[in-house]
Amino acid sequence: MASEIPNHIAIIMDGNGRWAERRGRPRVFGHVRGSGRVKAIVEVASRLGVKALTLYAFSTENWSRPESERLVLWKLLKKYLIRDAEQLHRQNVKLRVIGETDRLDADIRAVLDPVVQKLTSNTGLQLTFAISYGSRREMVYAAKKFAEECLAGRAHPDELNEVLMEEYLWTSDFGDLSEVDLFIRTSGEQRISNFLLWQAAYAEFIFTDICWPDFEPKDLESAIQEYARRERRFGGVGKGLPERPHRNIFA
Ligand code: FPP
Repeated sequence: MASEIPNHIAIIMDGNGRWAERRGRPRVFGHVRGSGRVKAIVEVASRLGVKALTLYAFSTENWSRPESERLVLWKLLKKYLIRDAEQLHRQNVKLRVIGETDRLDADIRAVLDPVVQKLTSNTGLQLTFAISYGSRREMVYAAKKFAEECLAGRAHPDELNEVLMEEYLWTSDFGDLSEVDLFIRTSGEQRISNFLLWQAAYAEFIFTDICWPDFEPKDLESAIQEYARRERRFGGVGKGLPERPHRNIFA
């Protein structure tokens, strides 16, 4: 059996557009409802003692959506940050953003950066928004950065192993929490869609038909119950992650 509460939950908040279309409403109406779900899910995750919650808010591929839809998403993100920053702080939530944040417009950074800064020393739930995030892009960045270190003589290719690789990923400062335990995707789609490919290598996956705007705290609780019933073997026969090479094994 998996331990009862997963340390790190990652969620693909999918189905906003379809949820709205089924109701004869524009797709962005689904994003409005979907953004309203974030608060309650953060609250319940925090209350249950989940240590890290990573939400896929905007992928590298989402840049291809119409500008009008992108603008609504940015507006909703800013609204959430402005409205909820104080409460997140009271809940002791730490906020991070992973992704190509330098692609974000200055007006988004102007709201985002101070909130991240304000919550940076909090020690409760580690909430991360993946924004302009793509796992393949993350790995390309990591490879480039390591190659640069090698060219500068500060690293050697023989040093590279799974543990050192993690230091070059955008989740490097998650420490022990970078490993995703429970990976949830809403809306019935059963794909990973370039989200945390490295970090979710041993995650338990739960795909629910519920669209994100309808996803409630009780749905997170039942996903956690299902997770607790799963037997995690990590490719072995017993419990725990497989033995990992020491960082300097080749040094
Ligand atoms: C997927 O639904 C959802 C997104 C691309 C965006 C998720 C963003 C939010 C829930 C709002 C962000 C706000 C905060 C506070 C983080 P979809 O549009 O792909 O749905 P579809 O698959 O039905 O078309």
